Amino acid sequence: MSAASQPIRNRGETTPPAPTHVGIIMDGNGRWAAARGVPRALGHKAGAEATRRAIEAAGELGVSWLTLFAFSSENWRRPADEVRDLTGLMRHYLRHEVGQLVEQGVRLRIIGDRSAFGPGMQAEIEQAETVTAGNARLNLNVALSYGGRAEIAKAAGALARRAAAGEIDPASIDEAALAAHLDTAGMPDPDLIIRTSGESRISNFLLWQCAYAELVFQPVLWPDYGAEHLREAVAEFHRRDRRFGARTG
Ligand code: IPE
Ligand code: IPE
Ligand code: MG
Repeated sequence: MSAASQPIRNRGETTPPAPTHVGIIMDGNGRWAAARGVPRALGHKAGAEATRRAIEAAGELGVSWLTLFAFSSENWRRPADEVRDLTGLMRHYLRHEVGQLVEQGVRLRIIGDRSAFGPGMQAEIEQAETVTAGNARLNLNVALSYGGRAEIAKAAGALARRAAAGEIDPASIDEAALAAHLDTAGMPDPDLIIRTSGESRISNFLLWQCAYAELVFQPVLWPDYGAEHLREAVAEFHRRDRRFGARTG
C-alpha cells in the first residue's frame, strides 16, 4: 500500500483509553530532601509542586478520577513539627489552589477522617468542595487522615447501627452495601494504583477498593514526579492483562 493510500490514523482509535481511576501513593519527599541535605519541610513543599503537575497531567491524559494519598491515618505518628508542616501545606493548598482547580475543571473531594483536623481546616475543606462541586472534567479525591482499615471499620459500624435500628435487614448486607458506606461511595474502583519512591507496599491506601487495581511501583521520588512518569505508568497499565479472576483464553 502506498503511503498516500494508507488510512489516516484516528488518534482516538489507536490510543487505548486512559484508566478511568488512578490512585497515587505520593511517597519519597523525605528522601528527596535528605539527598539534598535540606529540611524535610522543603521535600514536602516540592512534593506539593509535583501534585500540581500530576493533576494537570491526569486531566490531559483523560483520566476521570484521580485519588491522591497525601496524609495517612498513621502519619499522625510523625514528629509534631513535621505534622505541623504538612497540615500547614494542606491548608495553604485548600486556600490558594482552588481557583486553579476550578479553571482546570477539577472537582475536589476530601476522603478520610476530616474530624481529626481543627474546625478552621474542616471549614476550608467544605468550602473547597463546595466551590468545585460543579466541575466534571476530573474528579480529584485527596486522602487526608485516611486509612483503609479505619474506612472499612467505619462502614461496618454504620451498617451495624442501621441494622440495630431496624432500618436494614442484616441478611441484606453485601459487598455493594458495604461499598456504599465507604468514603468512596458511588465512585469507580481504581484501575491503576501507582506508588513512587521504590517502596512496594500499599500502606493502608484504598484497601477495599484496590481489589483488582493494577499496581505500578516507580522508583522516582515524589518531588521529581512529572507528566512523563504518569504517562509511563499508564503505558505499563496498558501492557497488563486484566482478568478479574476469569479466563481470557
Ligand atoms: C510522602 O513522603 C509524604 C507523606 C507520607 C506525608 P515521605 O515523607 O513519606 O517521604 P519518605 O518516605 O520519608 O522519603
Ligand atoms: C504512605 O506513605 C502515606 C502517604 C504517601 C501519604 P508513608 O511514607 O507514610 O508509608 P510507609 O510508612 O513507608 O509505609
Ligand atoms: Mg514515606
